[in-house]
Amino acid sequence: MLTGFGGQLGREWVDHFTQTGLEFNAFGSADLDITDEKAVDKVIADIKPDVIINCAAYTKVDLAEDESERCAEVNTLAVGYLASSAAKHGAKFVHYSTDYVFSGVIEDRITFPKGYPPNHGGNPQNVYGRTKWEGEEFIRNTCEDYLILRVSWLCGKHGNNFVKTMRRLASERPEINVVSDQFGSPSFTDQVVFNTIKLIDKQASGTFHIASDGLISWYDFAKEIIRLSDVNCKVNSISSNEFPQKATRPAYSKLDCSETEQLTGVKIENWKTALQRLIYKLV
Ligand SMILES: NC(=O)c1ccc[n+]([C@@H]2O[C@H](COP(=O)([O-])OP(=O)(O)OC[C@H]3O[C@@H](n4cnc5c(N)ncnc54)[C@H](OP(=O)(O)O)[C@@H]3O)[C@@H](O)[C@H]2O)c1
Repeated sequence: MLTGFGGQLGREWVDHFTQTGLEFNAFGSADLDITDEKAVDKVIADIKPDVIINCAAYTKVDLAEDESERCAEVNTLAVGYLASSAAKHGAKFVHYSTDYVFSGVIEDRITFPKGYPPNHGGNPQNVYGRTKWEGEEFIRNTCEDYLILRVSWLCGKHGNNFVKTMRRLASERPEINVVSDQFGSPSFTDQVVFNTIKLIDKQASGTFHIASDGLISWYDFAKEIIRLSDVNCKVNSISSNEFPQKATRPAYSKLDCSETEQLTGVKIENWKTALQRLIYKLV
């Protein structure tokens, strides 16, 4: 059972199910509002899924600062409904979370050079991150068989993301400004689906990270996107102060994926390789 099938990760899952012929039931927000507790439980009781994959989320990070109640309904309360119903009906619950659950201070680049480990405590700095952390806590307190999979800087061929935005801006403007003082590593939706399947196959349960190998700034990322896209556009480095946003963003939010790598036995892919594949798909 898949929720949030209309989003960028949800659509990647639909592609995977369609290509592999795996039996699945997918729900968009119009078919199943996950904030409707009774509807959620009824669907799960009817379908009796082996696995529930939740790709539904409130993801408008800046708007969340003004819509904190709605954000919490979707990212915390509704996640609790899904988790409780999954536990009641014996389904494994697979849920996606974010690097924004961590404090993201730049000093942590020294403390955690490989990235934040999955068991590091949450200390979110914005509403979206706080609601996602509280959603995670619901799952850890409710389910025995679950996967909380944190991803960062998510991008793929579907929906809106940084890669597509940079390509569009580069085709419209002679130069673009991109922040160079926020560091992390992108998660690509095809990598996320692949690693999720590997973790399910290994019967893993707990909190894990899925992102690509390497540590870059948004500026580094933009430069490589433009280079691979073969467009003539200059990328200028700016600081976060020069690009004010409503929600505070982490300065450092790399996710340590070693536990995922050890468990799946598959080396985490470098961001440049994964980006090259995505650009090829977008052409
Ligand atoms: N995007 C990122 O950069 C990023 C980074 C880190 C982590 N993540 C996490 O990764 C996961 C997937 O993100 P994404 O980028 O694929 O998100 P997305 O493209 O914004 O998709 C989210 C989906 O959730 C659906 N949804 C929202 N409220 C719902 C509700 N009440 N009931 C049912 N469905 C609802 C939306 O449907 P409608 O559009 O119809 O409302 C949308 O299809 C999320 O858990 C997100 O928090 C994302």
